[in-house]
Amino acid sequence: MDLEIRDLQLGLGGKDILQGMTLPQVSANVFALIGPSGGGKSTLLRVIGGLLPPDGGEVLLNRERLPEDEKSLRQCRRKTGMVFQNWNLFHHLTAFENLMLPLTQVQGMPVEEAEAKSMACLERFQLADHAHKKPHQLSGGQQQRVAIIRALVIEPRCLLLDEPTSALDPEMAAQVLEMIEEVAAQGTPVMLVTHHLAFARRVSDTTLFLAEGQITEHGPTSAFFERPQTEACRRFLDRVMRM
Ligand SMILES: Nc1ncnc2c1ncn2[C@@H]1O[C@H](COP(=O)(O)OP(=O)(O)OP(=O)(O)O)[C@@H](O)[C@H]1O
Ligand SMILES: [Mg+2]
Repeated sequence: MDLEIRDLQLGLGGKDILQGMTLPQVSANVFALIGPSGGGKSTLLRVIGGLLPPDGGEVLLNRERLPEDEKSLRQCRRKTGMVFQNWNLFHHLTAFENLMLPLTQVQGMPVEEAEAKSMACLERFQLADHAHKKPHQLSGGQQQRVAIIRALVIEPRCLLLDEPTSALDPEMAAQVLEMIEEVAAQGTPVMLVTHHLAFARRVSDTTLFLAEGQITEHGPTSAFFERPQTEACRRFLDRVMRM
């Protein structure tokens, strides 16, 4: 997918968070968003997902400008799959019911069709055995995989993932990362915020480095990691890759 950002402005709680963020048009199937804490990664992802209307500037996805009015933003959210660090699922509903909800309630799909689709998605990712469990009966990794499936079941135009593995232990994180890799390989465009730099390097084709509300560096992932251009980026990569 193509992403372009023009002079994006956003304030929160009386503070300027994004002050003229800019990115020329770049194409990728998987974008990795990396950078120091507080740099604006989650904020940008929320703007792209239509959750946070910016105060100025524009974001273009596939050369189409993100809308500003609430009604069109709602449409935009329906076409986007989003998964955050945790608390993604409705805790009183089973995995299966969590998938049914966006299909029947948001998309208005007939129940039988939605049931077949939900089950097929759980099977595709080897989670059919857990279909009738509630989130608290699933491991953290299983919950995140169900959350990703729920985001995919609506066939979104892109999948936005904000540190989907950061609340998980390494084994669970690995399962979720494998699933993300599979989703990306099957062609769903992904924008991934992560601190797993080795993973970002392996799966993404374009990397954006965010710091202080700006995209200070971006490029094809291999070149980005081999030859970071700015001192700030070099230092960040050195520090985090060593962990
Ligand atoms: N609701 C809010 N009100 C005020 N300031 C906020 C709000 N949400 C975020 N911020 C500030 O905006 C800046 C960017 O935050 P953001 O969450 O986008 O960073 P991030 O890059 O995702 O960081 P992390 O890696 O820690 O998740 C931070 O300085 C943060 O304190
Ligand atoms: Mg964040």
